[in-house]
Amino acid sequence: MAKRIPNSQDLLAQFGERMLEVLEELSSYGADPEGGVTRLLYTESWLQAQRALISKMQQLGLESAFDAVGNVFGKLSGSQIALKPVLTGSHVDTVKNGGKYDGAYGVVASMMALGYLKAAYGEPKRTLEAVSFCEEEGSRFPLAYWGSGHVTGARSLAQAAELADPAGVTLLEAMRQAGFNAAGLGEHPAKREQIGAYIELHIEQGSVLTYRHKQIGVVTAIVGQIRLTVHVTGSSNHAGTTPMTMRRDALAGAAEMVTLTEQMALEAGEPLVATVGRLEVRRGTSNVVPGDVTFTLDIRHTDEPEMRTFCVRLLTKLEEIALRRGLTIETVENLHASPVAMHEGISAAIEAACEAVSFPSMRLPSGAGHDAQLFGPICPSAMIFVPSVAGISHSPAEFTEAGDLVAGFQTLVHVLYQFGYGGEADEII
Ligand code: GLV
Ligand code: MN
Ligand code: MN
Repeated sequence: MAKRIPNSQDLLAQFGERMLEVLEELSSYGADPEGGVTRLLYTESWLQAQRALISKMQQLGLESAFDAVGNVFGKLSGSQIALKPVLTGSHVDTVKNGGKYDGAYGVVASMMALGYLKAAYGEPKRTLEAVSFCEEEGSRFPLAYWGSGHVTGARSLAQAAELADPAGVTLLEAMRQAGFNAAGLGEHPAKREQIGAYIELHIEQGSVLTYRHKQIGVVTAIVGQIRLTVHVTGSSNHAGTTPMTMRRDALAGAAEMVTLTEQMALEAGEPLVATVGRLEVRRGTSNVVPGDVTFTLDIRHTDEPEMRTFCVRLLTKLEEIALRRGLTIETVENLHASPVAMHEGISAAIEAACEAVSFPSMRLPSGAGHDAQLFGPICPSAMIFVPSVAGISHSPAEFTEAGDLVAGFQTLVHVLYQFGYGGEADEII
């Protein structure tokens, strides 16, 4: 158990309250009229949110700025420069019409935690940094982890010229339009070396914690993901004059592929999941046989070989459907993130912090992807979850009780205190 934990309880409570307010304020950037939040990478609402975070971090006394690709850092500098910094945060982008908490909670709680530690304890020994990653979801461009991928070196600017959003704007153009012109800075303009550890606080986005009556989740591992785009090509033709037996209908073929995906995933069983989340019919019109359809595939599993095997089996079956129907398919892999285990030592320190303040906790895996997945292979990384009401996420109905948000915030504070000010956990990294 931790020997030293923050004791200025009134101040901690004040920062917890303020954290809730800032989280609410942040949700006004990109608020959808019908409820929910949409903040896609490099759009105006995204930019406003990141700028607002810089200003709030500065008010908290953190040194804050954008990096070359649009991540925002808020630094609380430590006195011992030989100690590698500990990063804590999450992402500011959302899915289309998502909730207020996914990503935003971890970002706001991280900066408020550093603000509290500075106010209560002054300069730390080890540098602590709050980070708001520019993108994690993959909701505008067909790849994910653009922010944390740059910091860890897993993403490069070369990818930015090749990828376009549904409106045809390339990632590179979108970056430049938002004011991030990294030309001349090399392929990895935001890569960081020498990171001591990464800790991410996030909503669970599932219902395990609620079901088990636990307030805090300590993540054991993050699921692997493969994301693909499948293009199905048939023959576009007149809906009235083309007999049913003479069609090469790309949409009817895609529909069979979607159904088969669900069926094969059900047969494979948990923890495998497979989702078609987007389907587009090019030039779709009621009196035209569709000739050109694109859909996305998202496949997840905690075991890398199982995930790969399922993916290969599925794609073989989709090709068989295409062949039988006189269609062609082309698949592009946009993302392959391997499952990543979280760091045992930091996870134990999180559990110890929960025990010290009597927050009931449990260990659980994450079925959602997180920025911590990119840090896992390069530095000790860990995640703290708080309950999601009814397990709903990626939806305007996403909700976490204020008491649970504050409990997660306090847990994060306790762990960061140890790394920053020399508690027992500091020896882990
Ligand atoms: C990100 O939230 C993902 O798991 O898709
Ligand atoms: Mn998230
Ligand atoms: Mn998400």
